[in-house]
Amino acid sequence: MLLNSTLLQSRLNSKRKAPPRQSKAGVINCDLDMGKPFDIELERLTGKTSYTDVFPGVTTGQRGTFFLETFGCQMNDHDSEKVAGLLLSRGYQQVETPEAASLILYNTCSIREKAAQKVFSRLGEYREKQSEGKIIGVLGCVAQQEGEDIFKRAPWVSLVCGSASYSKLPGMLAQLESGNQRVTGLDTDTDETFETEVTRRDNPWRAYLTIIEGCDKACSYCVVPFTRGPERSRASDSILREVRQLAELGYSEVQLLGQTVNSYADPTPRRMRFSELLLAVAEVRGIRRVRFTTSHPSDFTPDIVEAIERQPKICDHVHLPVQSGSTRVLRAMQRTYSREEYLEKIAMMRVASRPIGITTDIIVGFPGEKESEFEETLSLLDEVQYDSLYAFKYSPRPNTPSLSMSDSISEEEKSRRLAVLQDRQREIQTAKHERLVGDRFEVLVSGKSRRENQWSGYTTSHRMINFASQERELLGTYVQVRVMGAGPNSLMGEHVT
Ligand code: 5AD
Ligand code: SF4
Repeated sequence: MLLNSTLLQSRLNSKRKAPPRQSKAGVINCDLDMGKPFDIELERLTGKTSYTDVFPGVTTGQRGTFFLETFGCQMNDHDSEKVAGLLLSRGYQQVETPEAASLILYNTCSIREKAAQKVFSRLGEYREKQSEGKIIGVLGCVAQQEGEDIFKRAPWVSLVCGSASYSKLPGMLAQLESGNQRVTGLDTDTDETFETEVTRRDNPWRAYLTIIEGCDKACSYCVVPFTRGPERSRASDSILREVRQLAELGYSEVQLLGQTVNSYADPTPRRMRFSELLLAVAEVRGIRRVRFTTSHPSDFTPDIVEAIERQPKICDHVHLPVQSGSTRVLRAMQRTYSREEYLEKIAMMRVASRPIGITTDIIVGFPGEKESEFEETLSLLDEVQYDSLYAFKYSPRPNTPSLSMSDSISEEEKSRRLAVLQDRQREIQTAKHERLVGDRFEVLVSGKSRRENQWSGYTTSHRMINFASQERELLGTYVQVRVMGAGPNSLMGEHVT
């Protein structure tokens, strides 16, 4: 049964400690692993005193227990938050270990081969669980990509569901409960977005919100258009309603998500542009920071920069993946812009009245990438002076156009290029950070170190800063921090009162 209140965002009692996270593409890590597991009181956040008040008519665990592990990007993390909310509202109880669960779900990533391999090795670990009567399900990109082949490779799996079919999950689980051995949800020809009445948010300070699903670009190396289906934008009124509810629950920072977030196309008659949506979200009472990721350079228009200039609540950070600094490679990647066109977008940001932090993604060793073309990428780094970047070795993926191009760069050479690129960026970042010593920033505190008086958080431009403070409790608050020292990946500072 679903709640009849419109869209109740419950940040349920989270006893589960967030596992340490690795840096991911376009992903900004929440450093929850720094301190003790956070514990959000259901009552404080919902005004209700018990689980059954939040989910009327539902007894917790009446349908069983579930364990949900997520691999991959921020979109996957947030999809899992929605899937968890959906299952909780249907009477499943979330547990911390696969051993304690009757339903084990893996939300998977297949963006690079290694990520997909990891999923199969994890599935292998749970081979025996099925004989104990547990249901094992694969969600996300590997589910969509491999489809029913997963049943052949891992016959102990009984549910395979891609992200475009999540709304059908309760029905699929009901089929398994009524005796079906195997169920799949693999349609991608939907024009719907996945909306839930309850989202079980993991991060107590930053609320993620998907505004556009799927991708209509056709980058030649990328599986996303196959695994997540065509672009679908969520109605602006529904987004704004959710933001208002999030603000009421105490969230002051929201991050709008999409593979190409700035390609947002409001399906309602209001036809809000992406920049108008950013401004409208920022105007919601209680919202103090609005972030968005990932932007596609071709849809990055001047009005987005104007919105950042006009409204200080819109964070001064843009993640704008370039992938390569060579126009020839960009054409082979089907990236729809040249090096010069990309640099025009950067120039647009550099003349803004507010400095804007810029980060990017880069792929090295794309088929046929010559040494001179790789050097063009290095010179782009020098020119743009990114605040940080995520770099990857090219990984051939099923169904993608670049699969038919010979993967001509050896693994060794890819690794060399990656290391050279990372060294160059480290120098850039170190120099940039050193110039910030003495500056003062507003920081949303999101981490507490085991070491006494040490805290961490992010500036509006998404710089991570570790700082000392004598205060006893700062998590979730905004403080002023002066930068006292700098490393390549973070800043050190002290709390100024
Ligand atoms: N190989 C390597 N990196 C890839 N990415 C996407 N597909 C591949 C691939 N086949 C990277 C891109 C993208 C980020 C999310 O992952 O840089 O921006
Ligand atoms: Fe993949 Fe390109 Fe779409 Fe990004 S824009 S998700 S890289 S196809």
